[in-house]
Amino acid sequence: MTITAIRGFNDIMPGEADLWQRIEKKARRTFRSYGFSEIRIPVVERTELFARGIGETTDIVEKEMYTFQDRRGDSLTLRPEGTASVVRAYIEHKLYTRATSKLYYLGPMFRYERPQKGRYRQFYQIGAEVLGEASPLLDAEVIEMLMLLFKRLELKGTALNINSLGCGECRPRYKKGLMEFLDSRRTALCENCQRRIDENPLRALDCKSAHCIETTEDGPSILDHICDGCRVHFEAVRGHLAQSGVAPVVNPRMVRGLDYYSKTTFEITGEGLGAQNTVAAGGRYDGLVKELGGPETPCFGFAIGVERLALLLNGQDSAKEPLFFVALLGGDDIAEKGRGIVRSLRESGFAVERDFAGGGLKAQMKRAHKMGASFVIIVGEDEVARGVVAVKDMQTGTQRDIPLGELEEAISIGLSSHREGA
Ligand code: HAM
Repeated sequence: MTITAIRGFNDIMPGEADLWQRIEKKARRTFRSYGFSEIRIPVVERTELFARGIGETTDIVEKEMYTFQDRRGDSLTLRPEGTASVVRAYIEHKLYTRATSKLYYLGPMFRYERPQKGRYRQFYQIGAEVLGEASPLLDAEVIEMLMLLFKRLELKGTALNINSLGCGECRPRYKKGLMEFLDSRRTALCENCQRRIDENPLRALDCKSAHCIETTEDGPSILDHICDGCRVHFEAVRGHLAQSGVAPVVNPRMVRGLDYYSKTTFEITGEGLGAQNTVAAGGRYDGLVKELGGPETPCFGFAIGVERLALLLNGQDSAKEPLFFVALLGGDDIAEKGRGIVRSLRESGFAVERDFAGGGLKAQMKRAHKMGASFVIIVGEDEVARGVVAVKDMQTGTQRDIPLGELEEAISIGLSSHREGA
């Protein structure tokens, strides 16, 4: 019997992995220009870190963690997210003795969820966290950075939702009011929401059941209950975002699935992903460092779901890195010339393939097609004699002669955004 991968765990295949590399590369470059440095955190942590950090009554901690005992009997967990680990590292290495820390990470996370399109049990996140800055300007700047990354990736059709979840002072008051409201409608709510009324009433606002959504529609809105400090912060974030040309939708029902948030929270959705359409999410978590034993430290961060981002980009043609196939037709001198073209295009950062088997134009075109080439550059006796190459666009079928000396310029004008390092 053949052995297959575990349900919800995926192979990222060649081709797909090229897109992942492009995403990671642009993320690193963008984050660096905003002053972030990479941190590499372990894949396994003590279970207690997530229980205390994410919240005992969240879905993640209650039912989605991969938890096991090691040989000594210690309870360990495969990380379901990166923020708790970054905070642990921040405290453990006393990073708070320095100026603001701006850290980013990328790697696999694990949650035992029901797999479907865009939702897996092992999935990758690219996350960024700023520890030690309370200004609303920071919230706006980090969201702006994320939007810039999406723009650089030419991701289209995104929507930014923002909300404020208040602080340790005003949220408990809101929670109490919401609890009373939910209690008065208890029987109309699903079983899960009924259970949550006393434990974590905010989560009832996030329930996907149409009946629960309808039942809670006229419930109290958090934005009517946050304190003056939180309101001023929220308005400032919105103002700064508007100044940087980012237009968010205010969504007071957006509560997030992790308990550590305070003040600003946000989610970015993409088109065409179905139910799992949140491609990146995050917010402020001013209480977490203290909660995990460190000093009072205001923080803000987010994480991108890489599979979801790749799905979105794959559905959008512009994301595809073009592959050039050089077809060589003729004797040794042509092969020599062709190899020179292949070499110089590769040196300039273009992705180039060639056919080692040779053969006629038909056979080479067939191979180019199989490889998924976007353009075939035909180097034949006739072309070489005229000092040109013929370039065939595999999508439109059109073909034109380009003087050899202008080849690179010609392909980079039309495809400049696809060039290596763009
Ligand atoms: P999260 O909303 O749980 O937040 O996850 C962030 C993103 O990871 C989601 O928007 C989604 O794109 C992706 N994601 C989550 N679960 C799955 C899954 N099962 N399959 C595929 N993709 C998934 C956090 O994890 C926070 N740590 C974000 C953060 C950082 N907040 C502050 N700093």
